[in-house]
Amino acid sequence: MSNFNLPDFPVSRPRRLRKNGALRDMFRETSVSKTDLIYPLFIAEGENVKKEISSMPGQFQLSIDNVLRECAEIETLGLKSILLFGIPLEKDEVGSGAYADDGVIQRAVREIKRNFPEMLVITDVCLCEYTSHGHCGVVENGYVQNDATLELLAREAVSHAHAGADIIAPSDMMDGRVAAIRKALDAAGFAETPIMAYSAKFSSGFYGPFREAAESAPQFGDRKTYQMDFGNGDEAMREIALDIQEGADIVMVKPALSYLDLISRAKDTFNMPIAAYNVSGEYSMVKAAAANGWLDGEKVMMEILTSIKRAGADVIITYFAKDAARIL
Ligand code: PBG
Repeated sequence: MSNFNLPDFPVSRPRRLRKNGALRDMFRETSVSKTDLIYPLFIAEGENVKKEISSMPGQFQLSIDNVLRECAEIETLGLKSILLFGIPLEKDEVGSGAYADDGVIQRAVREIKRNFPEMLVITDVCLCEYTSHGHCGVVENGYVQNDATLELLAREAVSHAHAGADIIAPSDMMDGRVAAIRKALDAAGFAETPIMAYSAKFSSGFYGPFREAAESAPQFGDRKTYQMDFGNGDEAMREIALDIQEGADIVMVKPALSYLDLISRAKDTFNMPIAAYNVSGEYSMVKAAAANGWLDGEKVMMEILTSIKRAGADVIITYFAKDAARIL
């Protein structure tokens, strides 16, 4: 169903523009730049902690002192933006550490912004790292309660903004959280703090390594009553539409690689800034295969990042950010 009126071979010879590197570089349609990349960091309590995450080679749990060292390196590499996840010492039923003024994320954000005022600091807003049961909301009768969770998420978002977060990124998948967070931020004087919503977030096996990294695996059941079913594309568009209506400034598709079709649909449908999360499992698969000599890790990394942008993502959250920055 080509609507192009292309002349036949031998007049058409697409290989002409692939003849050498200069031509290929000139006519490459999609490129990845350092400013497209957001680097996730896992922040632990304590001092001088630098614990490698075994399922994510090259990624670490870092205490705040080491996060500051890491930020210096990130800046030197030319990266501009980080996404923070907290690992508290203590967890409870209602995830109190998530909205404590002296919580690990709140202290980390203050320290980072004091030392690196130019760094764009995005905070993940969710309860799963802070709850004893590991779910992203309040649990009653074995079920994650939507409306009771909204107030806690709003408190968490406001406390992050107070600490100095530049962008708030809710990843919990409760209905109505973007509206609740927007309202709370506005009331607290943060009308200009943007929300990057994890809008189409799927219940995914690709999060496996992250749950080791963030110590956030659910202690019973799974997340299927709040995260999306991976067969659903139309519903993903409705989730994104709702988040936009509720006030999201940036909408996200997560994971990225198995969902490139939805990144593309979202870009075409909404004309909004789109973020894609190149998640832990997508990173670890490449690292594992490369470590075995089964493929060239750097080549595959750039191919993956480029494909996510080609699909329509404006920004990519990726554990590859530093590796990619060294090449770019
Ligand atoms: C927290 C959260 C998760 C991820 C980001 N925020 C895990 C989950 O929902 O279980 C996954 C990120 C990754 O795999 O890299 N809700």
